[in-house]
Amino acid sequence: MKGIILAGGLGTRLYPLTHATNKHLLPVYNKPMIFYPIKTLVSAGITEILIITSGPHAGHFIGVLKNGKELGVKHLEYAYQEKADGGIADALSLGEDFAAGGPITVILGDNTTDAEIKSYVFHFKSGGTVFLKKITSKIQLRRFGVAVFDQKNKEKLVRIEEKPKNPKSDYTATGLYIYDRLVFNYIRQCKPSARGEIEITDVNNIYLHHQTLKWVELKGFWSDAGTFETLYRANEYWANKGGI
Ligand code: DAU
Repeated sequence: MKGIILAGGLGTRLYPLTHATNKHLLPVYNKPMIFYPIKTLVSAGITEILIITSGPHAGHFIGVLKNGKELGVKHLEYAYQEKADGGIADALSLGEDFAAGGPITVILGDNTTDAEIKSYVFHFKSGGTVFLKKITSKIQLRRFGVAVFDQKNKEKLVRIEEKPKNPKSDYTATGLYIYDRLVFNYIRQCKPSARGEIEITDVNNIYLHHQTLKWVELKGFWSDAGTFETLYRANEYWANKGGI
């Protein structure tokens, strides 16, 4: 399986830090943020990776990652998203040639986790897989995609709502997904949301409409690092753990 890391966007929630460089190159304890999603993929046996980035500091990645060999990556490619904040699914659409008709594991560049996803990658056949994480804080949930489960069957995911005012469960959609080749067709079906982005949540809801989206609960620590609060939380966790 190949992997795609989405590391575009403008990182406006971290201004003024992201005036200096791309969000995903900021430190999380003793490593640049992007080392964490790379490690998640490499640990799952994924060593062919595409990094999709955008914005004024895109060139900084090569200086930090070079050809990826030091991190265990055998083949590293880069792609540039022209509309810097066109949305996660807009960024992912650039990975179609790289995927070459095969399945892909996708991770957001600001997500850090110590969860093991190898078996899900290994056993993946078709459709999509989303990794959910239980979070009890309503304030935090409102910043994410949140799962809605069937009233009668609490295991059955019926929809994901992006940044809901009233979250209908405690399960957030993490930025970790496995998709078959149909993901690129589904992205083409999506229209920009109210905030002008092509949303990954809309793509997941298309999979749900076709009843081909599975969900699994992510074990272990998971946090994004895209706000000052979560950047601090991720730093604290990884510093206490002694890094990756
Ligand atoms: O972290 C998990 C959450 O990530 C999910 O629960 C949400 O469903 C999902 O929409 C996303 O929400 P965020 O609001 O946190 O996404 P953000 O705009 O911060 O983008 C996350 C990463 O995606 C970012 O670090 C880089 C990449 N990205 C984002 C945008 C908007 C791109 O590559 N291009 C883009 O245009």
